[in-house]
Amino acid sequence: MIVVTGATGTLNGATVEHLLDRVPAENIGVSVRDVTKAQHLAEHGIRVRQGSYDDPVALRDSFEGAEQVLLVSSSDMSADVVGQHRAAIEAAVAAGATRILYTSQQNPVDTSYPPAAMHAATEATLAGAALTNAGVTWTALRNGFFGDLDQLLGPWRQTGVIAQPAAGPIPWTDRRDLAEAAAVILAGDRPFDGPVTLAAPPVTLHDFAAILTEATGRTIERVVVDDAQWLAGRIAEGMPEFVAEMTLGMFRASRNGSYAEPAPLLGDLFGREPRSAAQQVIDHIAT
Ligand SMILES: NC(=O)c1ccc[n+]([C@@H]2O[C@H](COP(=O)([O-])OP(=O)(O)OC[C@H]3O[C@@H](n4cnc5c(N)ncnc54)[C@H](OP(=O)(O)O)[C@@H]3O)[C@@H](O)[C@H]2O)c1
Repeated sequence: MIVVTGATGTLNGATVEHLLDRVPAENIGVSVRDVTKAQHLAEHGIRVRQGSYDDPVALRDSFEGAEQVLLVSSSDMSADVVGQHRAAIEAAVAAGATRILYTSQQNPVDTSYPPAAMHAATEATLAGAALTNAGVTWTALRNGFFGDLDQLLGPWRQTGVIAQPAAGPIPWTDRRDLAEAAAVILAGDRPFDGPVTLAAPPVTLHDFAAILTEATGRTIERVVVDDAQWLAGRIAEGMPEFVAEMTLGMFRASRNGSYAEPAPLLGDLFGREPRSAAQQVIDHIAT
């Protein structure tokens, strides 16, 4: 059985949908905080059990019978997320899982991007669990950046400019591709041991300006804003400080070239190119 956590969330919820195309529903389980949000999965014949990273006993029960467990990285920024992930890894080992997968982040070594430290620590915990427990293997799905394009690009629709801090290449990756890739890996026979990078080709904010210009017929320019000025502006507008710091950290890490290296695995898994930045922009404009 494959058990997926975070299945009532966007990324791993989509992974479960892709798994349904690849393995029988009775071989899929989900571990979710609120089972009432997973009724649609139960209706497909998926085993739904309650589990939370804050409740090791329930977690272990929800992992029962799993050969593989896919752990979502916690979205609870007020919690000790590394501790939560450790509890989840321990529960997966105790339940007898032989492979533990985790939704990590591309290049978690560059801690200019604050969540990198959490991902690096969790990967180290996974490696430690595999070393100390015979038969346990692990895979870190080092995902490229995904999410709200307007958060990446700022209010370009109103202003006609991408006015963001200096940045380097960023592998802006379609979350739908990341979800599908996780399902391909979970359902496939090819073992992926340790970290694997899943990311679309990196693009710069200059590239995005050109893509938006082409897609909208308007001239959209790229303007570089001083870090401190940008940070103060976002906080004054009401962006939570930690979100502003995190986003600035992404720009800073990209400047270091931390995400510049091409990562062909995503396309290899599909036998097609992942959705490009231009495709994602077109989809975004249409919504
Ligand atoms: N690489 C990137 O650029 C990037 C961008 C955004 C997010 N992320 C990371 O990727 C993860 C998945 O993204 P997403 O878009 O699917 O986010 P999401 O829709 O917010 O889903 C997060 C999931 O984590 C679950 N969760 C949170 N705390 C938990 C806990 N204590 N125990 C068990 N489950 C818990 C949530 O459960 P409920 O459904 O019960 O709330 C939810 O299902 C995020 O959590 C974040 O760590 C990465």
